[in-house]
Amino acid sequence: MKEKFYITSPIYYPSSKLTIGNCYTTIVCDAVARFNKLNGKDVFYMTGTDEHGQKVFEAAQKAGKGVKQHLDEIIIDTKYLWKMLDVEYDKFIRTTDEEHVKAVQKIFNELYKKGFIYKSTYKGLYCMPCEAFWTESQLIDGKCPDCGRDVVEQEEEAYFFKLSEFSDKLLKLYKDNPKFLLPTSRVNEMVNNFIKPGLEDLCVTRTSVKWGIPVEFDPKHTIYVWIDALSNYLTGLGYLSEDDKNFKKYWPADIHMIGKDIVRFHSIIWPAILMALDLPLPKQIFGHGWLMLGGDKLSKSKKLATIECTDPRILVPRYSSDAVRYYLLREIPFGSDGNYSTEAFLNKFNSDLCNNFGNLVSRTFSMLRKYMNSQIPEADFDEDQDLKEYVNDEKQKVFRYMNELDVSKALSSVFNIFSRANAYIEKTEPFRLAKDSAQANRLATVMRNLLECIRIGATLLYPFLPNSSSKVLDALNVEKPYSFEDLDKFYGLKKGQVKPLEILFPRLDVQKELEELAKL
Ligand code: MSP
Repeated sequence: MKEKFYITSPIYYPSSKLTIGNCYTTIVCDAVARFNKLNGKDVFYMTGTDEHGQKVFEAAQKAGKGVKQHLDEIIIDTKYLWKMLDVEYDKFIRTTDEEHVKAVQKIFNELYKKGFIYKSTYKGLYCMPCEAFWTESQLIDGKCPDCGRDVVEQEEEAYFFKLSEFSDKLLKLYKDNPKFLLPTSRVNEMVNNFIKPGLEDLCVTRTSVKWGIPVEFDPKHTIYVWIDALSNYLTGLGYLSEDDKNFKKYWPADIHMIGKDIVRFHSIIWPAILMALDLPLPKQIFGHGWLMLGGDKLSKSKKLATIECTDPRILVPRYSSDAVRYYLLREIPFGSDGNYSTEAFLNKFNSDLCNNFGNLVSRTFSMLRKYMNSQIPEADFDEDQDLKEYVNDEKQKVFRYMNELDVSKALSSVFNIFSRANAYIEKTEPFRLAKDSAQANRLATVMRNLLECIRIGATLLYPFLPNSSSKVLDALNVEKPYSFEDLDKFYGLKKGQVKPLEILFPRLDVQKELEELAKL
């Protein structure tokens, strides 16, 4: 039986203005999910939308629409965006789904019955855009520490979750499971900024917010965002529904992938809720960095004072989903922030995708057509061991880095294979060998080795850039579903003729593109 692997991205706030920064979490998850599939695991990847709260309600009113209609339109758009970016999920959960709503009510009842939820009065400083309450000490210059906007004082009857009871359990959890929260710097942040100063009980209902899931036994209260939102990881698997086979099969999650802004909710509140419910905890929470634009988080709610184009709906049709995926996956280093600039995006397109990967494939295919009528040749299997060792080492590195979720370095190792193969062309000079009939066997070996490098590189590349890599693999007659098992041996191509292949990444005139994007 295959080993199960359950990975989640956060459920997004509904917005039709998602930037490529917002898309990062989902694209990383897609790459990790695909990687594990090729590695023989039974993968379940879930994403979705977080649809309750005052902000959503107000946005619908502003648009002059009913909330449900407003949301349905955005969700169509979001799903279209994931399709554009080749994101393949197994389930798209919406927190307005009936199954989710019912299960969240049951979760709330259960926590109340067990004595982890009680009724009291909430007084606090509330940030409307972030839908978060803050204490005085958490504010920065009197403003919301997350978005820097004004907060307002609010008081109301509310239910509370006894988060304060979980400090020791959480400290023990981090200590006993050093890989529970990664990168480890985030653990220090949680311990020093939140747990050591003392956890306060958490307000988990609102009476002022009508667009939310009502508490079943006290319906003037709605369940306030985090219990509702976090529970999606369970309810999306059918937890507390008639059909809970996915819950039984996939829970606990292997990875909750999230941005660093929501680490507190996932590594403090979420494990506390699960402990209170007596459920197993996720194995790992990974808080990745942000994509920044000129030092600011690339966010849909901040006005961008630049002409940078960050809209995937423009970038994908113009440059391909793989180009956007490549930039994001390569540019955000393990656990830290990365930068976005249109110029860097275009330059990377040319240097890595066009000159390295694209050029290797087109040179090799064109030589094969010229010298061997596109037939995959036999090779002298003993020659060029250094090339094969290099490819094997980089392959091992890809596995090691992916195991640590260092996606950027993994991708860089895949590209090292392409660089090495390009250097192999320079060194062996197949165009010279082709002129000398005495070198026919050597030419065949060189061409076969190049094709195998491309096969191995493209298979390793598939989780990251599924579109262009599958075109290459298809041209090499490698059939789907791809598997990393096929990479155990250097020689894996079947005899036959390769198919013609279009140019994968046509070279861009960076200056011209910048001008055209500025016009858009
Ligand atoms: N709805 C909550 C999550 C609830 S999960 C139970 C939420 N949604 S969000 O739409 O604001 O953010 C979704 C994801 O996008 C988060 O992981 C967030 O960190 C990520 N990003 C938003 N802007 C980003 C960048 N500029 N760069 C990288 N990731 C970014 O939070």
